Amino acid sequence: MCGIVGVLGTHQVAPIILDALRRLEYRGYDSAGIATVNEGLLDRRRTLGKLVNLSDLLVHEPLPGRAGIGHTRWATHGAPSVSNAHPHRNGRVAVVHNGIIENFRALRAEMAAAGLIHESETDTETVAVLVRHNMDQGMTPVEAARTTLARLEGAFALAFLFEGENDLMIGARKGSPLVIGHGEGEMFLGSDALALAPLTERITYLEEGDWAVITRAGAEIFDAQGRRANRALARVRLDQAAVDKGGHRHFMAKEIAEQPAVLGAALNFHLSEDKSALALPEEVDFATCDRLTLVACGTGFYAAQLAKYWFEQLAGLPCETDIASEYRYRQPVLTRQNMAVFISQSGETADTLAALRHVQGQVARSIGVINVPSSSIARETDVALPILAGPEISVASTKAFTAQLLVLFLMALKAGQDRGRLSTEQLAEHLQMLQTLPGLMRAALDREEEIATLAHELAGVEHALFMGRGPMYPLALEAALKLKEISYIHAEGYASGELKHGPIALIDEAMPVFVLAPRDELFAKTVSNMQEVLARHGQVVLFSDRTGLAEAGAVPHSLAMPEVPPLLAPFVYAVPVQLLAYHAALARGTDVDQPRNLAKSVTVE
Ligand code: G6P
Repeated sequence: MCGIVGVLGTHQVAPIILDALRRLEYRGYDSAGIATVNEGLLDRRRTLGKLVNLSDLLVHEPLPGRAGIGHTRWATHGAPSVSNAHPHRNGRVAVVHNGIIENFRALRAEMAAAGLIHESETDTETVAVLVRHNMDQGMTPVEAARTTLARLEGAFALAFLFEGENDLMIGARKGSPLVIGHGEGEMFLGSDALALAPLTERITYLEEGDWAVITRAGAEIFDAQGRRANRALARVRLDQAAVDKGGHRHFMAKEIAEQPAVLGAALNFHLSEDKSALALPEEVDFATCDRLTLVACGTGFYAAQLAKYWFEQLAGLPCETDIASEYRYRQPVLTRQNMAVFISQSGETADTLAALRHVQGQVARSIGVINVPSSSIARETDVALPILAGPEISVASTKAFTAQLLVLFLMALKAGQDRGRLSTEQLAEHLQMLQTLPGLMRAALDREEEIATLAHELAGVEHALFMGRGPMYPLALEAALKLKEISYIHAEGYASGELKHGPIALIDEAMPVFVLAPRDELFAKTVSNMQEVLARHGQVVLFSDRTGLAEAGAVPHSLAMPEVPPLLAPFVYAVPVQLLAYHAALARGTDVDQPRNLAKSVTVE
């Protein structure tokens, strides 16, 4: 993660950089910092935690200068602290970095032997130290940066700024994204086009191994072999920026990372202004509904299965779920007191559309839970509720899944209210709890590095099992689907209690078994089922919160999740299962965004 920005401006750049960092804050907020060159002198401000802290500091300690770089950090090497915060400075150079310098230990030792001291625990500082060392040997800033870049291994996007150089910035990318923005007498660097969106629409995407010498007059770009490279200038309008990779390697990574923001925005939309009441359309009325049918395909179907628990628990509403391709060919028994819900990201899935057409006229009301508002299912349902996930480009659905869950959860609350199962106070409590959701999702995203490590170990296997109880059971199904569809590892999801009725025969010391078990009222039961797996030497990976992990006893692998209210656990635990699939796919080198044999919108049955 981490977001980086650079500006060679015509005005004070610190406020501009701060604003651009805000658009990158989804990439990390362990610390933030800005460095500028003012009248030839390099200076910096760094703070721990979110950008707001940096913004506050800048009020009291402004940072003048028309050239600057900035960073918002998601800590990898070195704990979140001011001394580990970027920009890192050594001598006359400051650097911001996104990615990991894999050979930094060797480089650090070499620099230490040359008598150069490091102040932080980061891999990034080594880059600054190397550049400084090169400059001490008499190299120009450009030569020093180029020579340093040639020595770096790993994945990185870097931006350099130099004391004494008011009109120079160097950017480099290998593995991590970096774009150049072209203004009028100004130049910009950013982790993605979105970061620069209000500053310029004219963007150059650097390619793997590119590095660029940037002045206010323009950018000279060089490829990995040091040859001058011509990279196209693209016009990226804000709406277009919403459908680029946003600085991520894959759309899937971007869409997983977007979930806190998506859910926050969807909550704003579907709740009253003061957040104390639901603001669903009046047709979403369950007062006389005696049975709800939820129909969908793929990931939407697992969202439906999960929502069934909520409609039953919160509203006491009989609820059934069906796969659209099955539903349309059965003879489902429907009455005018029934309501039917059709869940579809694209709103175009042929089987779901056919199922909708099948029930029209037979039920009291059809409701769409849809991402694309202009789609067929949105148009043909009696009322369509937008999930507002924004464009989802990756074939494997991630943010649409949790956004579907959110809208279904709100519907379940509405059903509880309409059916007299939830008092106004209880509803208000639930809505208040929902306000914590974006923060909890962010906390889950913060586990990415650990999940990537787990996924690396998983990458060599051909089979995996997921298990969970209650709402964690449909999530286990979704987890298995994610892993299958993008990494091609065969995976199955099971209800924890069901494992002993057959699948336990698959357990041996080579079988990874992911146990999705927040510390809720079903926890002890799930742990018993987990013990049955451990007794047969299964490779258990327990996803639970600290309390759960402490109570569960020894397991081969675990992932410490944030403590979450039980009703919110499916949202929060969706994040690590998505990331697990993503990193397993990366490790196996599969086509993450466009897995083989699949399509995003399935318009054939
Ligand atoms: C395809 C996609 C899945 C999606 C399913 C249903 O199979 O790959 O990610 O869940 O279609 O799509 P829908 O647009 O109806 O949600």
